Amino acid sequence: METFELTIDELAYEGFGVGRHQNMVVFVPYSAPGDRIEVTPVKRKKRFIEARIVKIIEPSRLRTSPECPYFGDCGGCQWRHVRYDAQLKAKASQVSSLLERFAGVVVPDIEVQASPVTSNYRIRARFHASLQGLGFQRLNSHEAVPLSFCPSCSERLNELLRYARGIPEFSRVSQVQAVDGDIQLLVNLSARPSTALFELARRIKKDLGAVVFVNNRPTSPKRYVSIKLPFGPPVRYSPGMFIQTNPHINQLIVLYVLSLIPRSSRILELYAGVGNFTCGLAEVTRITAVEGSRASCGELKRRCKGRSAEVVCGPARRALEGMDRKFDAILVDPPRKGLEEEVVSWINQSDADTLCYVSCNPATLARDIKRLAEAGWSLESIKGFDMFPYTYHVETVSVLKR
Ligand SMILES: C[S@@+](CC[C@H](N)C(=O)[O-])C[C@H]1O[C@@H](n2cnc3c(N)ncnc32)[C@H](O)[C@@H]1O
Repeated sequence: METFELTIDELAYEGFGVGRHQNMVVFVPYSAPGDRIEVTPVKRKKRFIEARIVKIIEPSRLRTSPECPYFGDCGGCQWRHVRYDAQLKAKASQVSSLLERFAGVVVPDIEVQASPVTSNYRIRARFHASLQGLGFQRLNSHEAVPLSFCPSCSERLNELLRYARGIPEFSRVSQVQAVDGDIQLLVNLSARPSTALFELARRIKKDLGAVVFVNNRPTSPKRYVSIKLPFGPPVRYSPGMFIQTNPHINQLIVLYVLSLIPRSSRILELYAGVGNFTCGLAEVTRITAVEGSRASCGELKRRCKGRSAEVVCGPARRALEGMDRKFDAILVDPPRKGLEEEVVSWINQSDADTLCYVSCNPATLARDIKRLAEAGWSLESIKGFDMFPYTYHVETVSVLKR
């Protein structure tokens, strides 16, 4: 087995530690900045090597105990072995280096707000099944690592994990989407329909008191679970809707976004979901909210009833065709792939002089900031929020002006 010694310099965006060996960049999962390690290559490409740790020669001072027996096998978390303050720093430096590389913007000191709660913070998860139970997929694999518990998941999601360990019938299911409502758990089983599958759904409903869906269809008259958001009536959540994973940091993000939007202005909100920002904004502005998912949009309409909000259902690109461009500010919160080109060019031709961009992917954010800057926008501020402690993911809120 070929091995070599390596010092890890930093954590890369996808979560791997990065070192340099004979002019090659080496990516090593589960390493930490400052580690001196012996590694063996698992993948060689023209410009980089992916390697695995064989031995830790001298551990980094930033290492800590992962406090999870599955860490390193389960692919759910990448950074349980890294101190929390160092995780926040790594997220900040990744955002600034992506902005510099892809947008040519230099922002050296980005603050990443810690999550008020770093254990049991997840209220939703997509689990995969095996004969031994449910869990997340192993790194670089489609195989599920069966879990008895997950320290990041809420108590009710953990109840489902414990329950599934004794029930091999779960292995019929390709995916289990679980969402922790305020009172009940929602479980959505995805699999080829069969009598055994519906029997499993009946058992889960009876044993866990959950609201169970099979392939996005309800199996009982109750068709949703309630989830509170910072503003507006509780969401009646059902599959197909989007809900933020970590409600503790979400509360801070919503208040921060509200503080950035000028009061009494005319706002356009794109990618509004079930109205996480919309209901609060409708109290201080006139807002037009656009959402592409039919399920989310129906719920957005219901939650906005009686408020100064106009709701438009459909893909942003299509909803914007022929829309009046007279807005003071625009708020966008797109999925990971970022803004479509047509949306960017619509924003560029609008009257708005403030753009608030909520992003869950700093790489596409940087690409979009570059496109916006070409039309005269400049980045005024950017702040990170730790929606997913122990992972490399980071949420950001940027303000652009022109
Ligand atoms: C990251 S979520 C944000 C939702 C909401 N702002 C929140 O905080 O809960 C992105 C939302 O964009 C919606 N979406 C995805 N593609 C879209 C498109 N092309 N047009 C409009 N909405 C879209 C998704 O359904 C989802 O609700």
